Amino acid sequence: GAAELGPYRHYMQKEIFEQPRAIGDTLEGVESVVPELFDGVGADGKTAASAHRVFKDIDQVLILACGTSYYSGCAAKYWLEGIAKVPTQVEIASEYRYRDSVPNPRTLVVTISQSGETADTLAALKHARSLGMEQTLTICNVATSAMVRECKLAYITRAGVEIGVASTKAFTTQLAGLFLLTLALAQSKGRLSEESEAQYLKQMRHLPVALQSVLALEPQIISWAEDFARKENALFLGRGLHYPIAMEGALKLKEVTYIHAEAYAAGELKHGPLALVTSEMPVVTVAPNDALLEKLKSNLQEVRARGGVLYVLADADTRIETSEGMHVIRMPEHYGALSPLLHVVPLQLLAYHTACARGTDVDKPRNLAKSVTVE
Ligand code: G6P
Repeated sequence: GAAELGPYRHYMQKEIFEQPRAIGDTLEGVESVVPELFDGVGADGKTAASAHRVFKDIDQVLILACGTSYYSGCAAKYWLEGIAKVPTQVEIASEYRYRDSVPNPRTLVVTISQSGETADTLAALKHARSLGMEQTLTICNVATSAMVRECKLAYITRAGVEIGVASTKAFTTQLAGLFLLTLALAQSKGRLSEESEAQYLKQMRHLPVALQSVLALEPQIISWAEDFARKENALFLGRGLHYPIAMEGALKLKEVTYIHAEAYAAGELKHGPLALVTSEMPVVTVAPNDALLEKLKSNLQEVRARGGVLYVLADADTRIETSEGMHVIRMPEHYGALSPLLHVVPLQLLAYHTACARGTDVDKPRNLAKSVTVE
């Protein structure tokens, strides 16, 4: 009811603003990177299984999920391969469960689910098990869910109850859990130096404060939302670790505003979507200051040269400036490996405020359900 909403107009807005707390809670008590964090708890309250033993034995990861949870898996692939050096595949659960695949018993099967009850994800998990893959782990927001019961190992995110159909705080807490999983796997395989462990832990502890300053960008996002409210199409671009963030940004916009939005890996622009670019096509670009920034800047020029209007989320230390046809919101910092957790927040706010401007039912978009427990 209205009382629980406090100063917020909708649950989606409230949940976006809860993210510093949700991440803080999810990472609470994490003093060092130990595989035991993933042991999970059996029905008797005792440790369910030894993650350390499992982590040492696996040589690849298979992530299975749907919707927003699938996009957090897509981002995690970059961490798992880049930091832990573990080959990683990410699949949409409803695809995986029905296709012929080549199982490797030394796979860690990771399901990601806010509810822990999504029918396709549960079925994909069972399918993987039927193919002989016994090492299963879930990143899940509901400790008592079927998913947690079905998996050997678990990390419970502490986003708290999420009411808005469009997932926000569950997504960022999943990313936090997946980053921790990356570090724990790296640790088990002897690929995490004490120095980088300390460095990553420091960055993780800084997240609540960093999120707070990103949330303070809301007024600037509201002015973008006024432009977006009048559009019927939008393109989202990202590269590398932030390509999944562009995908999640496009999904948020679709879900709550009904504007057709599509995400592209920026390097693919010239292979098709550039044909769509006109002054009526806003192009949102996630531009962290990483190794791909110079490449991304030339992608921006490709859009500008066709009269496309850019909306760029740039890190503090990039030299991308507001100019004709180019709107820039500067992120307060440059966040390194954890950057996706920060860059997604303005995209959530953009979808939210555009929806408010269009007067859609933000918390209950047409045709969608919070938890899809039937196929
Ligand atoms: C539904 C919800 C999405 C969610 C997806 C997967 O489509 O509307 O917000 O991302 O299901 O749900 P799960 O609970 O498995 O994360």
